[in-house]
Amino acid sequence: MGAHSDGHRRQAVRAPRRQGASRPASLPPYTAGMAADAPPPGPLALIGGTGKLGPGLALRWARAGVPVVIGSRDAERAAERAAWLAGRVAEAGGGAEVRGMANPDAAAAGALACVTVPHAGQAALLPALARELAGKVVMSTAVPVRFDPGAGPVAVEVPEGSAAQELAALLPGARVVGAFHTVSSAHLDRLDRPLDEDVLLCGDDDLAKAEVRRLVELIPGLRPVDCGRLAASRLTEQLTVLLLGVNRLTRRSAGIRLTGI
Ligand SMILES: NC(=O)c1ccc[n+]([C@@H]2O[C@H](COP(=O)([O-])OP(=O)(O)OC[C@H]3O[C@@H](n4cnc5c(N)ncnc54)[C@H](OP(=O)(O)O)[C@@H]3O)[C@@H](O)[C@H]2O)c1
Repeated sequence: MGAHSDGHRRQAVRAPRRQGASRPASLPPYTAGMAADAPPPGPLALIGGTGKLGPGLALRWARAGVPVVIGSRDAERAAERAAWLAGRVAEAGGGAEVRGMANPDAAAAGALACVTVPHAGQAALLPALARELAGKVVMSTAVPVRFDPGAGPVAVEVPEGSAAQELAALLPGARVVGAFHTVSSAHLDRLDRPLDEDVLLCGDDDLAKAEVRRLVELIPGLRPVDCGRLAASRLTEQLTVLLLGVNRLTRRSAGIRLTGI
């Protein structure tokens, strides 16, 4: 993942790039069709937002001004979690509203969504949300993994190719983007610590990917990186299994930073 060893020297003799020319041609700038001072997007529904990743993302987005809806199989748990998160946002200096409701209501209330349930749970949960999520940008974060007592984290094969492709099959009409696999909830949760990592994005809908890119850029310290088609989620999901193995060996939480781009 390191840059080519003479990358800096070669860049120095290149003709100056046009502004924005380094962006892959397939990915429009996130501001396409938006005014420079466009309000933050949202509300953003976190399906299964009561666990570890969902609250971490909720904190960061609410602080950035994105209204968040925490979804759960239990509306009361969602409301309790949302109230606690809203308190943390207020303590940290304020931000957008955090509400909690049952997953189907959260899916309906969200202009976009991020699914933060374990991979093993998505096949039973998501078909009931397909109508509410049709036409919306939906982020897939699931990492199909099992923990072997000897070997540690091991990737689980998914017949569709990846958890993100399975999610797309379960939610026909949703504009699916694989995102945030390699970002640890432990990093997101510590609002007092700056983030410093990349968010790998995979998707077949360029405008959906641009919307997610904008959401990532709203969180200071995170950089979105376009990793191509949705099928590439298989690689970002499996890369995360590698990181989980590194975490096990180092007792830390690893993230990803690509160099040379
Ligand atoms: N944790 C991380 O650092 C991290 C980082 C990157 C990606 N991810 C991925 O993000 C997803 C969420 O991770 P997490 O650590 O937040 O998971 P988690 O805490 O185990 O679960 C998140 C929430 O999912 C709901 N849920 C659990 N089992 C379910 C099932 N069988 N069916 C429907 N809903 C279920 C629960 O909410 P309710 O009981 O309230 O419905 C739970 O609070 C996973 O797919 C994971 O691979 C996690």
